[in-house]
Amino acid sequence: MDNNNNHYLLCFFVIIFLVGHGHEGFTKGVEGLGFNWGLQATHPLNPNIVVKLMKDNGFNKVKLFEADPGALEALGRSGIQVMIGIPNELLAPIASSVSVASSWVEQNVSKYISTNGVDIKYVAVGNEPFLTAYGDKFINTTFPALQNIQAALIKAGLGRQVKATVPLNADVYQSADSGLPSTGDFRGDIHDLMTSVVKFLSDNGAPLTINIYPFLSLYDDPNFPIDFAFFNASGAAPVVDGSITYTNVFEANFDTLISALEKNGFASLPVIIGEVGWPTDGDPNANLVYAQRFNQGLIDRINQGKGTPKRSTLPEIYIFALIDEDKKSVLPGNFERHWGMFNYDGSLKYSLNVSNGNSLVAAKGVKYLSRQWCVMSPQASTTDPNFLGSVEYACKYADCTSLGNGSSCGKLDAMSNASYAFNMYYQTMNQMKGSCTFSNLSVLTTIDPSHDTCKYEIMIDVGKHEQPPAAPGTRSSLAAARGKHSYSVMALVFVLTLMMKICVV
Ligand SMILES: *[C@@H]1O[C@H](CO)[C@@H](O)[C@H](O)[C@H]1NC(C)=O
Ligand SMILES: *[C@@H]1O[C@H](CO)[C@@H](O)[C@H](O)[C@H]1NC(C)=O
Ligand SMILES: *[C@@H]1O[C@H](CO)[C@@H](O)[C@H](O)[C@H]1NC(C)=O
Ligand SMILES: *[C@@H]1O[C@H](CO)[C@@H](O)[C@H](O)[C@H]1NC(C)=O
Ligand SMILES: *[C@@H]1O[C@H](CO)[C@@H](O)[C@H](O)[C@H]1NC(C)=O
Ligand SMILES: *[C@@H]1O[C@H](CO)[C@@H](O)[C@H](O)[C@H]1NC(C)=O
Ligand SMILES: *[C@@H]1O[C@H](CO)[C@@H](O)[C@H](O)[C@H]1NC(C)=O
Repeated sequence: MDNNNNHYLLCFFVIIFLVGHGHEGFTKGVEGLGFNWGLQATHPLNPNIVVKLMKDNGFNKVKLFEADPGALEALGRSGIQVMIGIPNELLAPIASSVSVASSWVEQNVSKYISTNGVDIKYVAVGNEPFLTAYGDKFINTTFPALQNIQAALIKAGLGRQVKATVPLNADVYQSADSGLPSTGDFRGDIHDLMTSVVKFLSDNGAPLTINIYPFLSLYDDPNFPIDFAFFNASGAAPVVDGSITYTNVFEANFDTLISALEKNGFASLPVIIGEVGWPTDGDPNANLVYAQRFNQGLIDRINQGKGTPKRSTLPEIYIFALIDEDKKSVLPGNFERHWGMFNYDGSLKYSLNVSNGNSLVAAKGVKYLSRQWCVMSPQASTTDPNFLGSVEYACKYADCTSLGNGSSCGKLDAMSNASYAFNMYYQTMNQMKGSCTFSNLSVLTTIDPSHDTCKYEIMIDVGKHEQPPAAPGTRSSLAAARGKHSYSVMALVFVLTLMMKICVV
């Protein structure tokens, strides 16, 4: 524990990593790539644009965190396979009765298969419900919810077509103090529960789903040997486990799980990697170079169909994530809003070779607001008594996670820093009148203030700025959901403007 080697062994035993190396697994041909598509954005891209983006890049599997009607409708007859998530909040009601589970399946699975032709393959029951940080919050409800969803799928005649699984964080298993993958077993406090879940999945021909995060190994431990986080490491001291030599944490972590499964009698249970990826901002290690290196290594392995030393067949993998989400909680860290392989607007962050040597292509047909930015007025001063409060205010309602130390806009002077904040607020508010009036500290400009790595955004036009805040109407699902968002933003702007008038004048 005091030498470096033990130190990082300990790390991956606590945290998570993925991807395999080793035997040339069976060649699955061009299997395509899977992605997590999250919707926690102030301005979600039009789902039809997102589905087109996936198809243009040959991505053929997607994981949703909820049964979002707009996303599911767009995925209908797209040729893309879908895993639909059930949020943790629904675990208790679904655990309470099969009829609640049946109605969830009818409304959120059966309907989309029969009416929209959505190729639903999996239902993900909960999202990392046994995460240590949740304590025992979902300990009693997850397994019964899984059982009820499985029963509901059978009742709906979908027992063969759709499998129920539970996406779990890699903290559900650990290695012994030695940190060697071969010593892997389920976490002590949930050992019996994990065994029951795994047995149930096995009995129903369903896979276990695990999320693995090499980035977090690095984030949580500044002494983590950085090369060990990537796939082509040569600099990192390898982990030697009997006859196996591990050169990256992804393989080591995955094989720790395989050892745990072996130890408990489920050596051949299919495993899906539900999340794995690398963020690009919000932390010094969350940057374009590392994300490109990690994701290219991951994609190369997927295209080669390579498994790990202990399991030669490549697991099904869903990369985290497709697009940045500016409304995600930053509790895990500022990087949390920057996991996308694409920016918030579907534009490219970095180049990648995807399948068949094709490079990644950006989203098409995205509409933007006017090319104008809200910036600090050249006449205004950083010593203005309203200065700090105004920046703080802007960052309370808009995403300022790129301003942190070591982030893409972490080196700005105070003026540019304020401009970034004001602009983010202005764009998040759809450039609405009155949203660039920070106590006379701000002005509009048509000159792009972006420089170096720091990009000052223009927001996507989601048609909100011109809509009157009328009563929610009868528009269809996603439009309605978006509408709700726009009403609340408009109400917010109204209240804010009012408050500013009252407080400031
Ligand atoms: C799913 O089904 C339930 C009914 O059980 C319904 O209340 C819910 O709104 C549906 N949609 C989502 C996104 O869960
Ligand atoms: C889970 O069930 C156990 C045993 O019935 C009980 O003691 C415990 O309080 C429950 N935990 C929660 C969070 O409901
Ligand atoms: C790993 O690959 C990246 C490019 O993807 C390259 O920059 C780096 O030098 C390689 N590292 C090793 C140790 O081969
Ligand atoms: C993608 O492939 C091209 C040509 O094979 C190569 O020059 C380029 O470096 C590759 N890019 C990455 C990110 O690996
Ligand atoms: C910013 O990060 C660098 C290293 O990445 C560190 O040396 C510096 O002290 C940090 N500054 C602040 C204000 O945290
Ligand atoms: C930039 O603004 C953020 C958000 O208010 C603040 O935390 C940070 O200290 C500011 N940096 C500079 C250089 O003013
Ligand atoms: C903003 O400027 C206008 C015109 O110069 C002035 O009337 C107003 O009092 C100023 N408001 C603030 C908050 O400084």
